Amino acid sequence: MKQQMLDRFGRIHTNLRISVTDVCNFRCIYCMPEDMTFMPDAALMTFDEILHLARIFVALGANKVRITGGEPLVRPGVPALIRQLTQLEGLKDISLTTNGIGLIKQAQALYDAGLRRINVSLDTLNEEKFEQMTRRKVLSRVLEGLKAAHKCGFNPIKINAVAMRGFTDDEIVDLATFARQNDYQLRFIEFMPLDADDVWGRNMYIPGKEIIGKINAVYPLTPVTQNGEAKSDTAQRYRFSDSENEVGVISSVSEPFCENCNRVRLTADGKLRTCLFSLTETDLLTPLREGVADDGIAELILNAVEQKEAGHKINAADFIKPERNMSRIGG
Ligand code: 5AD
Ligand code: SF4
Repeated sequence: MKQQMLDRFGRIHTNLRISVTDVCNFRCIYCMPEDMTFMPDAALMTFDEILHLARIFVALGANKVRITGGEPLVRPGVPALIRQLTQLEGLKDISLTTNGIGLIKQAQALYDAGLRRINVSLDTLNEEKFEQMTRRKVLSRVLEGLKAAHKCGFNPIKINAVAMRGFTDDEIVDLATFARQNDYQLRFIEFMPLDADDVWGRNMYIPGKEIIGKINAVYPLTPVTQNGEAKSDTAQRYRFSDSENEVGVISSVSEPFCENCNRVRLTADGKLRTCLFSLTETDLLTPLREGVADDGIAELILNAVEQKEAGHKINAADFIKPERNMSRIGG
Protein backbone atom coordinates (compact mmCIF):
# COMPACT_ATOMS: atom_id res chain seq x y z
CA MET A 1 0.00 0.00 0.00
CA LYS A 2 2.01 2.97 -1.20
CA GLN A 3 -0.69 5.07 -2.72
CA GLN A 4 -1.80 8.46 -1.53
CA MET A 5 -5.32 9.68 -1.03
CA LEU A 6 -5.31 11.89 -4.11
CA ASP A 7 -8.45 13.35 -5.66
CA ARG A 8 -9.38 14.58 -9.15
CA PHE A 9 -8.38 18.11 -8.19
CA GLY A 10 -4.88 17.21 -7.07
CA ARG A 11 -5.58 17.46 -3.36
CA ILE A 12 -3.65 15.01 -1.19
CA HIS A 13 -5.45 13.96 1.97
CA THR A 14 -3.40 13.55 5.12
CA ASN A 15 -5.86 14.54 7.78
CA LEU A 16 -8.38 12.08 9.23
CA ARG A 17 -11.15 12.92 11.66
CA ILE A 18 -12.63 10.00 13.52
CA SER A 19 -15.92 10.26 15.34
CA VAL A 20 -16.07 7.76 18.20
CA THR A 21 -19.72 8.36 19.12
CA ASP A 22 -22.67 10.46 18.01
CA VAL A 23 -23.84 10.77 21.61
CA CYS A 24 -23.46 14.08 23.38
CA ASN A 25 -24.39 15.43 26.77
CA PHE A 26 -25.09 18.89 25.28
CA ARG A 27 -27.77 19.90 22.80
CA CYS A 28 -26.17 22.90 21.04
CA ILE A 29 -28.78 24.63 18.94
CA TYR A 30 -26.44 24.85 15.92
CA CYS A 31 -25.96 21.10 15.96
CA MET A 32 -28.71 19.03 17.55
CA PRO A 33 -32.41 19.03 18.32
CA GLU A 34 -33.48 18.66 21.95
CA ASP A 35 -34.77 15.16 21.23
CA MET A 36 -32.11 13.20 19.52
CA THR A 37 -32.04 9.52 18.62
CA PHE A 38 -28.58 8.05 18.80
CA MET A 39 -27.03 5.20 16.88
CA PRO A 40 -27.41 1.72 18.41
CA ASP A 41 -24.19 0.47 20.04
CA ALA A 42 -23.84 -2.35 17.54
CA ALA A 43 -23.60 0.21 14.73
CA LEU A 44 -20.58 1.91 16.31
CA MET A 45 -17.04 0.98 15.40
CA THR A 46 -15.33 -0.82 18.25
CA PHE A 47 -11.93 0.58 19.27
CA ASP A 48 -10.29 -2.37 17.52
CA GLU A 49 -12.16 -1.51 14.36
CA ILE A 50 -11.20 2.15 14.67
CA LEU A 51 -7.54 1.17 15.06
CA HIS A 52 -7.75 -1.22 12.16
CA LEU A 53 -9.19 1.45 9.86
CA ALA A 54 -6.81 4.10 11.20
CA ARG A 55 -3.89 1.84 10.36
CA ILE A 56 -5.11 1.59 6.77
CA PHE A 57 -5.57 5.36 6.52
CA VAL A 58 -2.08 5.93 7.89
CA ALA A 59 -0.68 3.49 5.33
CA LEU A 60 -2.39 5.67 2.71
CA GLY A 61 -0.65 8.79 3.99
CA ALA A 62 -2.82 10.09 6.80
CA ASN A 63 -0.47 11.66 9.35
CA LYS A 64 -2.93 13.58 11.51
CA VAL A 65 -5.91 12.22 13.40
CA ARG A 66 -8.52 14.15 15.33
CA ILE A 67 -10.91 12.32 17.63
CA THR A 68 -14.39 13.85 17.63
CA GLY A 69 -17.99 13.01 18.53
CA GLY A 70 -20.81 13.88 19.30
CA GLU A 71 -18.86 14.29 22.50
CA PRO A 72 -15.99 11.81 22.36
CA LEU A 73 -15.44 11.75 26.12
CA VAL A 74 -18.88 10.25 26.83
CA ARG A 75 -17.57 7.02 25.35
CA PRO A 76 -15.62 5.09 27.98
CA GLY A 77 -11.99 4.29 27.25
CA VAL A 78 -10.95 7.13 24.95
CA PRO A 79 -7.55 7.52 26.69
CA ALA A 80 -6.79 3.87 25.90
CA LEU A 81 -7.70 4.46 22.27
CA ILE A 82 -5.42 7.49 22.16
CA ARG A 83 -2.56 5.49 23.63
CA GLN A 84 -2.94 2.89 20.91
CA LEU A 85 -3.13 5.54 18.21
CA THR A 86 0.12 7.09 19.45
CA GLN A 87 1.77 3.79 18.61
CA LEU A 88 0.84 3.93 14.93
CA GLU A 89 3.99 4.62 13.03
CA GLY A 90 3.52 7.47 10.59
CA LEU A 91 0.93 9.25 12.68
CA LYS A 92 2.53 12.55 13.65
CA ASP A 93 -0.29 14.32 15.33
CA ILE A 94 -3.30 13.34 17.43
CA SER A 95 -5.85 15.78 18.76
CA LEU A 96 -9.29 15.75 20.32
CA THR A 97 -12.33 18.01 20.08
CA THR A 98 -14.49 18.08 23.19
CA ASN A 99 -17.19 20.18 24.81
CA GLY A 100 -14.94 20.29 27.85
CA ILE A 101 -17.15 18.77 30.52
CA GLY A 102 -15.32 15.46 30.54
CA LEU A 103 -11.95 17.13 31.06
CA ILE A 104 -12.49 17.57 34.79
CA LYS A 105 -12.25 13.82 35.18
CA GLN A 106 -10.29 12.76 32.12
CA ALA A 107 -7.75 15.46 31.27
CA GLN A 108 -4.93 13.75 33.17
CA ALA A 109 -5.65 10.30 31.74
CA LEU A 110 -5.70 11.77 28.23
CA TYR A 111 -2.41 13.56 28.83
CA ASP A 112 -0.84 10.44 30.26
CA ALA A 113 -2.01 8.52 27.19
CA GLY A 114 0.07 10.86 25.05
CA LEU A 115 -2.47 13.43 23.91
CA ARG A 116 -1.09 16.99 23.82
CA ARG A 117 -3.53 19.01 21.75
CA ILE A 118 -7.18 19.62 22.48
CA ASN A 119 -9.95 21.83 21.14
CA VAL A 120 -12.68 22.81 23.54
CA SER A 121 -15.99 24.20 22.29
CA LEU A 122 -17.01 27.34 24.14
CA ASP A 123 -19.27 29.90 22.52
CA THR A 124 -19.93 32.32 25.33
CA LEU A 125 -18.82 33.26 28.83
CA ASN A 126 -22.29 34.33 29.82
CA GLU A 127 -24.16 31.74 31.83
CA GLU A 128 -27.59 32.47 30.44
CA LYS A 129 -26.39 32.51 26.88
CA PHE A 130 -24.46 29.32 27.46
CA GLU A 131 -27.65 27.66 28.55
CA GLN A 132 -29.53 29.00 25.53
CA MET A 133 -26.81 27.78 23.20
CA THR A 134 -26.17 24.31 24.66
CA ARG A 135 -29.52 23.78 26.44
CA ARG A 136 -27.44 22.83 29.49
CA LYS A 137 -26.54 24.84 32.58
CA VAL A 138 -22.93 23.83 32.92
CA LEU A 139 -20.69 26.74 31.92
CA SER A 140 -18.75 26.62 35.19
CA ARG A 141 -17.91 22.95 34.63
CA VAL A 142 -16.59 23.63 31.15
CA LEU A 143 -14.39 26.38 32.59
CA GLU A 144 -13.22 23.93 35.25
CA GLY A 145 -12.46 21.41 32.51
CA LEU A 146 -10.37 23.99 30.67
CA LYS A 147 -8.42 24.73 33.83
CA ALA A 148 -7.84 21.04 34.45
CA ALA A 149 -6.46 20.66 30.92
CA HIS A 150 -4.21 23.69 31.35
CA LYS A 151 -2.85 22.31 34.60
CA CYS A 152 -1.96 19.00 32.93
CA GLY A 153 0.14 20.85 30.37
CA PHE A 154 -1.93 20.53 27.20
CA ASN A 155 -0.49 22.85 24.58
CA PRO A 156 -2.06 24.30 22.60
CA ILE A 157 -5.52 24.45 24.06
CA LYS A 158 -7.81 25.82 21.41
CA ILE A 159 -11.25 27.21 22.02
CA ASN A 160 -13.80 26.81 19.24
CA ALA A 161 -16.62 29.32 19.27
CA VAL A 162 -19.42 29.07 16.73
CA ALA A 163 -20.31 32.60 15.64
CA MET A 164 -24.05 33.12 15.30
CA ARG A 165 -25.57 36.48 14.41
CA GLY A 166 -27.58 38.00 17.23
CA PHE A 167 -25.85 35.80 19.70
CA THR A 168 -22.09 35.97 19.45
CA ASP A 169 -21.87 39.63 18.35
CA ASP A 170 -21.24 41.00 21.83
CA GLU A 171 -19.21 37.99 23.00
CA ILE A 172 -16.39 38.37 20.53
CA VAL A 173 -14.14 40.73 22.45
CA ASP A 174 -14.93 39.10 25.82
CA LEU A 175 -13.89 35.71 24.50
CA ALA A 176 -10.71 37.23 23.05
CA THR A 177 -9.87 38.78 26.43
CA PHE A 178 -10.50 35.48 28.17
CA ALA A 179 -8.33 33.57 25.70
CA ARG A 180 -5.47 36.07 25.97
CA GLN A 181 -5.54 36.00 29.75
CA ASN A 182 -5.47 32.23 29.96
CA ASP A 183 -3.22 31.48 27.02
CA TYR A 184 -5.87 29.66 25.03
CA GLN A 185 -5.99 29.95 21.25
CA LEU A 186 -9.38 31.19 20.23
CA ARG A 187 -11.00 30.33 16.92
CA PHE A 188 -14.36 31.52 15.72
CA ILE A 189 -16.22 29.26 13.34
CA GLU A 190 -18.86 30.71 11.05
CA PHE A 191 -22.16 28.97 11.72
CA MET A 192 -22.68 26.39 8.95
CA PRO A 193 -25.90 24.74 7.76
CA LEU A 194 -25.30 21.52 9.69
CA ASP A 195 -27.83 22.04 12.44
CA ALA A 196 -30.76 19.69 12.92
CA ASP A 197 -33.54 22.20 13.46
CA ASP A 198 -33.03 24.29 10.31
CA VAL A 199 -32.03 27.33 12.34
CA TRP A 200 -29.38 28.23 9.80
CA GLY A 201 -30.02 31.07 7.42
CA ARG A 202 -27.83 33.32 5.32
CA ASN A 203 -28.24 36.08 7.88
CA MET A 204 -27.30 33.77 10.76
CA TYR A 205 -23.54 33.62 10.56
CA ILE A 206 -21.01 36.32 11.36
CA PRO A 207 -18.32 36.68 8.68
CA GLY A 208 -14.78 36.04 9.91
CA LYS A 209 -13.63 39.45 8.63
CA GLU A 210 -16.15 41.19 10.85
CA ILE A 211 -14.97 39.18 13.85
CA ILE A 212 -11.33 40.04 13.22
CA GLY A 213 -12.30 43.69 12.75
CA LYS A 214 -13.98 43.76 16.15
CA ILE A 215 -11.02 42.18 17.93
CA ASN A 216 -8.48 44.27 16.06
CA ALA A 217 -10.20 47.45 17.23
CA VAL A 218 -9.41 46.50 20.82
CA TYR A 219 -6.34 44.28 20.49
CA PRO A 220 -4.31 45.05 17.34
CA LEU A 221 -3.70 41.92 15.27
CA THR A 222 -1.15 40.90 12.66
CA PRO A 223 -1.97 38.19 10.10
CA VAL A 224 0.15 35.04 10.37
CA THR A 225 1.62 33.96 7.03
CA GLN A 226 0.46 30.42 6.40
CA ASN A 227 2.75 28.52 4.05
CA GLY A 228 3.45 24.85 3.52
CA GLU A 229 1.26 22.60 5.63
CA ALA A 230 -0.43 25.58 7.25
CA LYS A 231 -2.02 26.29 3.86
CA SER A 232 -4.60 23.62 4.55
CA ASP A 233 -5.39 25.13 7.95
CA THR A 234 -9.08 25.81 8.12
CA ALA A 235 -8.38 28.86 10.24
CA GLN A 236 -7.05 32.19 9.06
CA ARG A 237 -4.72 33.06 11.89
CA TYR A 238 -3.74 36.36 13.50
CA ARG A 239 -1.24 37.15 16.22
CA PHE A 240 -1.93 39.67 18.97
CA SER A 241 0.71 42.34 18.48
CA ASP A 242 1.61 42.34 22.16
CA SER A 243 1.89 38.57 22.69
CA GLU A 244 2.66 35.23 21.06
CA ASN A 245 -0.96 34.21 21.40
CA GLU A 246 -3.11 33.78 18.31
CA VAL A 247 -6.70 34.09 17.33
CA GLY A 248 -8.28 32.65 14.19
CA VAL A 249 -11.42 32.56 12.14
CA ILE A 250 -12.79 29.64 10.21
CA SER A 251 -14.67 31.37 7.41
CA SER A 252 -16.21 28.28 5.85
CA VAL A 253 -19.22 30.19 4.55
CA SER A 254 -17.88 33.62 3.57
CA GLU A 255 -14.48 32.48 2.28
CA PRO A 256 -14.52 28.73 1.60
CA PHE A 257 -11.14 27.02 1.72
CA CYS A 258 -12.18 23.85 -0.09
CA GLU A 259 -9.40 24.06 -2.65
CA ASN A 260 -6.79 23.41 0.02
CA CYS A 261 -8.80 20.79 1.88
CA ASN A 262 -6.83 17.75 3.04
CA ARG A 263 -9.46 16.23 5.33
CA VAL A 264 -11.56 13.11 5.29
CA ARG A 265 -13.94 11.94 7.99
CA LEU A 266 -14.93 8.64 9.46
CA THR A 267 -18.33 8.64 11.16
CA ALA A 268 -18.90 6.69 14.38
CA ASP A 269 -20.72 4.03 12.33
CA GLY A 270 -17.74 3.61 10.04
CA LYS A 271 -18.76 5.59 6.97
CA LEU A 272 -16.15 7.57 5.07
CA ARG A 273 -17.23 11.12 4.23
CA THR A 274 -14.96 13.13 1.97
CA CYS A 275 -16.62 16.43 2.89
CA LEU A 276 -18.69 17.78 5.79
CA PHE A 277 -21.35 18.45 3.17
CA SER A 278 -21.08 15.17 1.26
CA LEU A 279 -24.38 13.77 0.02
CA THR A 280 -22.91 10.30 -0.36
CA GLU A 281 -20.70 8.25 1.94
CA THR A 282 -18.73 5.04 1.70
CA ASP A 283 -19.36 2.27 4.18
CA LEU A 284 -16.04 0.91 5.43
CA LEU A 285 -17.28 -0.86 8.55
CA THR A 286 -19.54 -3.41 6.84
CA PRO A 287 -16.83 -4.67 4.48
CA LEU A 288 -14.36 -4.70 7.39
CA ARG A 289 -16.79 -6.85 9.40
CA GLU A 290 -17.34 -9.08 6.39
CA GLY A 291 -13.63 -9.79 6.33
CA VAL A 292 -12.56 -7.77 3.29
CA ALA A 293 -8.75 -7.58 3.35
CA ASP A 294 -6.88 -4.33 4.00
CA ASP A 295 -6.08 -3.88 0.31
CA GLY A 296 -9.77 -4.05 -0.50
CA ILE A 297 -10.64 -1.47 2.15
CA ALA A 298 -7.80 0.73 0.93
CA GLU A 299 -9.22 0.55 -2.57
CA LEU A 300 -12.64 1.65 -1.32
CA ILE A 301 -10.98 4.61 0.42
CA LEU A 302 -8.88 5.58 -2.61
CA ASN A 303 -11.87 5.42 -4.95
CA ALA A 304 -14.03 7.49 -2.61
CA VAL A 305 -11.33 10.13 -2.17
CA GLU A 306 -10.69 10.27 -5.90
CA GLN A 307 -14.36 11.17 -6.40
CA LYS A 308 -14.34 13.79 -3.66
CA GLU A 309 -16.51 16.82 -4.38
CA ALA A 310 -14.77 20.02 -5.53
CA GLY A 311 -16.13 21.88 -2.54
CA HIS A 312 -19.21 22.65 -0.56
CA LYS A 313 -22.04 24.51 -2.20
CA ILE A 314 -23.34 26.50 0.75
CA ASN A 315 -23.33 29.61 -1.41
CA ALA A 316 -24.81 28.00 -4.53
CA ALA A 317 -28.43 27.93 -5.59
CA ASP A 318 -28.44 24.14 -5.75
CA PHE A 319 -27.09 23.62 -2.20
CA ILE A 320 -28.57 20.57 -0.53
CA LYS A 321 -28.13 20.15 3.21
CA PRO A 322 -26.71 16.74 4.14
CA GLU A 323 -29.01 14.36 5.97
CA ARG A 324 -26.61 14.01 8.88
CA ASN A 325 -26.35 16.88 11.32
CA MET A 326 -22.98 17.82 12.81
CA SER A 327 -23.01 15.42 15.76
CA ARG A 328 -23.63 12.46 13.45
CA ILE A 329 -20.91 13.52 11.04
CA GLY A 330 -18.23 14.32 13.60
CA GLY A 331 -17.00 17.90 14.03
N1 5AD B 1 -21.57 25.28 12.32
C1 5AD B 1 -20.29 25.49 12.72
N2 5AD B 1 -19.67 24.77 13.67
C2 5AD B 1 -20.37 23.81 14.26
N3 5AD B 1 -20.05 22.94 15.23
C3 5AD B 1 -21.11 22.15 15.48
N4 5AD B 1 -22.14 22.50 14.69
C4 5AD B 1 -21.71 23.52 13.91
C5 5AD B 1 -22.32 24.32 12.90
N5 5AD B 1 -23.58 24.12 12.50
C6 5AD B 1 -18.74 22.93 15.90
C7 5AD B 1 -18.79 22.87 17.39
C8 5AD B 1 -17.53 22.17 17.75
C9 5AD B 1 -17.13 21.42 16.55
C10 5AD B 1 -17.15 19.97 16.79
O1 5AD B 1 -18.06 21.75 15.53
O2 5AD B 1 -18.78 24.08 18.01
O3 5AD B 1 -16.52 23.05 18.12
FE1 SF4 C 1 -22.60 18.17 21.49
FE2 SF4 C 1 -20.71 19.34 20.05
FE3 SF4 C 1 -23.16 19.03 18.99
FE4 SF4 C 1 -22.76 20.75 21.03
S1 SF4 C 1 -21.87 20.87 18.94
S2 SF4 C 1 -24.43 19.25 20.86
S3 SF4 C 1 -21.20 19.77 22.22
S4 SF4 C 1 -21.77 17.42 19.54
